[in-house]
Amino acid sequence: MSKIKPLTILDLIQLKKTGEKISCLTAYDASFSAVMDKVGIDLMLIGDSLGMVIKGHSTTIPVTLSDIIYHSQCVTRTPKHAFIMADLPFATYHSKTVAVENAKQLIQQGGVQMVKLEGLHMDIITHLVQQGIPVCGHLGVLPQSIHKTGSYKTQGKLQQEADKIFTDAQKIEQSGASVLILECVPAVLAKRITRALRIPVIGIGAGVDCDGQILVLHDMLGLGGDKAPRFVHDFMKGSDSIKNAIQDYHYAVKSTQFPSEDHSY
Ligand code: KIV
Repeated sequence: MSKIKPLTILDLIQLKKTGEKISCLTAYDASFSAVMDKVGIDLMLIGDSLGMVIKGHSTTIPVTLSDIIYHSQCVTRTPKHAFIMADLPFATYHSKTVAVENAKQLIQQGGVQMVKLEGLHMDIITHLVQQGIPVCGHLGVLPQSIHKTGSYKTQGKLQQEADKIFTDAQKIEQSGASVLILECVPAVLAKRITRALRIPVIGIGAGVDCDGQILVLHDMLGLGGDKAPRFVHDFMKGSDSIKNAIQDYHYAVKSTQFPSEDHSY
């Protein structure tokens, strides 16, 4: 039996260097994550989107650390080839001490390799990294801030907004983050950031020029409801199985067929 060799952050950086796109999906359970791993998905995220697609809430705000740990365990219980990261949910990283304590639980109990947090929190990111905890940043639309922002509309359309997201991305890299996710920003801004940063930049609704792409699993399987956002493609359309749909997504990302301009802002 061949031994599974898990991808590391070095492999993701190498993919950025060679220009091979990084295929990513959200993952919440053992069965779907096993299919994703077979297909060759490079990165899985136990996202707090589970609050909406698994638990039925209207936002990600009610998701708890225990929810993320539980679903991370479901995904990581069997060894995976994919690199695996998990979200620090709402209000679990408001101080350095709290962030380290919670991130430690995600890594030790959840079995993930990296934690993700939303927005610009330089001192928290620096502190987590100093404690040996790898971090993924997240800019653009920040679903955990929905009650502050009031909408999920595309960020960075105005030049001033775009420049702020660009400098925030640089600050997140300088703070020691190893990966950055850009959600719903104009393709031209995502391209500028991806070129400027040494760390891999993964897009969702951020155009084709990011180093990789991520979608919420349920959205790419057409389960996201009638009004899917522009950046989503239903890979079940024209596919005869879930495995083939996930495989088609993987190939579409690798071959830069997804996302197209129609999926971009
Ligand atoms: O929670 C999530 O699924 C995410 C992705 C949309 C990037 O943060």
